[in-house]
Amino acid sequence: MKVIVCENYEAVSKAGADIVEKVVRDNPECTIGLATGSSPVGMYKELSRRCHEEGLDFSKVHSVNLDEYVGLEPTHDQSYRYFMDDNLFNHINIDKANTYVAKGVGDTEANLKEFNAVLDKADIAVQVLGVGPDGHLGFNEPGEVLYDGAHKEVLDESTIDANARFFASRDDVPRYAFTMGMGNIMRARKLLMVVSGDKRDAMTKLLIEDKIDPKCPCTFMRMHRDATVILEKSLADAIGYKY
Ligand code: GLP
Repeated sequence: MKVIVCENYEAVSKAGADIVEKVVRDNPECTIGLATGSSPVGMYKELSRRCHEEGLDFSKVHSVNLDEYVGLEPTHDQSYRYFMDDNLFNHINIDKANTYVAKGVGDTEANLKEFNAVLDKADIAVQVLGVGPDGHLGFNEPGEVLYDGAHKEVLDESTIDANARFFASRDDVPRYAFTMGMGNIMRARKLLMVVSGDKRDAMTKLLIEDKIDPKCPCTFMRMHRDATVILEKSLADAIGYKY
């Protein structure tokens, strides 16, 4: 696993954008896996800038997103479809018909069937990841077992706490989400984790300890042949990571 330690968030965003840019320039018709959360926002801004100013072309790129809250309409400002439109798709020349975010409303079984069918066909060139404070990836919460395919997950209380900042009140945070499974994530050709915020626990387990632990799903990244983690110097120093 490659670890890139950057001076600040801006540098993290640029280093992440460099990796996505290379994937897209190498294959302008690739499929990219995308993530929500505040961590990749700077990287999405930088990719939008490069699209406008440096000719980075997304016109033939397809995308699939990691997850979506159950119960939120795509027009809800905290749905992940809305987030992706607002933070990336509206600012680049991607064809929105080529972007997929699981449906959060409607028939659960049908939504999951569709999500899994999209994933079965997708050959994800790079999967962008954030990480939850408890090490969750997408919405794969810590547990005794992890799941291979897309599924419905009950959100942990700590995840609801962590995401409450985006909602009017904690009670408004959905209790369930659809997420790619760990198998879907691990089958991407490349993993790119951009880390920001207080992720000391998750980063200690990922970067300092040697365990692959379903109780900290991000540790599975260690088993991927082409995984990169990008974090700020302050976080690396806080956990005693030597670079
Ligand atoms: C949510 C998303 C994750 C994301 C996490 C961290 O739980 N489902 O994919 O990694 O938030 O978000 P942030 O980057 O805001 O800390």
